[in-house]
Amino acid sequence: MFRHVSQVGEDYSLKDFLAAGQGIITDPEPELAQELSRYLTLANIFLVNSGLAAFQLILKALKELSEKKEVILPAYTAPALVPIILSCGLRPVLCDINLEDFNIDLAQLPQAVSTNTLCILPTYLFGLGIRGVQDLKKKYPDIYIIEDCAQSLGTSIGGKQAGSYSDISFFSFNRGKNLPTYGGGFIATNSDSLAQLLKEKTGTLPRAGFLSRMFLSFKMVLFALAVRPGLHYWGYPFISFFKERPVTPELKITRYTRFQAGMARSLLHRAEELAQQRYQKGMKLINELKACTGLTVPGIPANIIPAFSRIPILFKDIAAKEEARKLLARAGIDTSYMYGKPLHQIFSLGYGPADFSQAVYCAERILTLPVHSLVRENDIITMVRVIKEVVA
Ligand SMILES: Cc1ncc(COP(=O)(O)O)c(C=O)c1O
Repeated sequence: MFRHVSQVGEDYSLKDFLAAGQGIITDPEPELAQELSRYLTLANIFLVNSGLAAFQLILKALKELSEKKEVILPAYTAPALVPIILSCGLRPVLCDINLEDFNIDLAQLPQAVSTNTLCILPTYLFGLGIRGVQDLKKKYPDIYIIEDCAQSLGTSIGGKQAGSYSDISFFSFNRGKNLPTYGGGFIATNSDSLAQLLKEKTGTLPRAGFLSRMFLSFKMVLFALAVRPGLHYWGYPFISFFKERPVTPELKITRYTRFQAGMARSLLHRAEELAQQRYQKGMKLINELKACTGLTVPGIPANIIPAFSRIPILFKDIAAKEEARKLLARAGIDTSYMYGKPLHQIFSLGYGPADFSQAVYCAERILTLPVHSLVRENDIITMVRVIKEVVA
């Protein structure tokens, strides 16, 4: 009653906000970088104002090291990555996904690789682990591997954190991510040569202007309030203020703000607990729903502990997906269709609309369910009940 669970959110405490406010005075960025480095066991961390900014800086660094021009990415992922690749004078090359982990289908990857491949972007969509990520660098020693960990801070594979299986990785602190500070991101690498280049590129970044820093802090506070289920119930119709904006290729890259860095530090101190909660809630949904014949749910291998950003489920029948979304909204649960289309149906990249059949299938049938810290046990029960009413 009078409760509406948002698709994204976090149970921020007063302590998180005090840490954020204190950050304005103390500049917590160096400590945050050190703590992230320890958490991920990756030597070099570079904080910036978004995951996309981190990605663009990585591509610019790689361009200085190689003449190659092609960037391989999954045909179903965040569309905003494509303008970033193009803005660097590089060419996006797509590879179909698999429906177990929603990443690049490693069996089809050889068809996308060429002598002009600069890098491959395996992506931990929804925080799911990537099967076979350990072998990618061994298979393609002359190609840079960039792990896109925007959605997977806290996921572990074979006892190591996502982001530590490649040359370099990037993460996001945006809304909807695992430790959301309403924007921000970072680059992580163990490679000294890449770290040197990125140090040069990030060392001189400007701070965001005073007004935009104030506005960001203000939006962070409003976001924290708006995602609380009691307030979300009333504010739901006006929530578009907080939704992602379309991204333009002219990305403005600045430093991460001190306020957000203070907040991120505070959240990072309980990152393991938050990741565990996401894992347990997600596994409960997956285990309860996996017997439904009308659905496909992600497969989770024993060596992967995903810190789910959300749980993706695929409906065999598209009408059932729409019905489930409507009924879940009525039952107080916000869901998302995510990216409504695969990349080749959004951008002209030289592919036909029916190419990459798994990505097309996924885009048409996906619904994502929330598993953040404001989701309660009863909400999980409601999600399972409503979905089972719609599909057998
Ligand atoms: C898979 C993926 N990569 C990259 C990004 C970009 O991160 P940011 O929103 O921090 O720029 C996102 C954000 O939505 C994402 O989901």
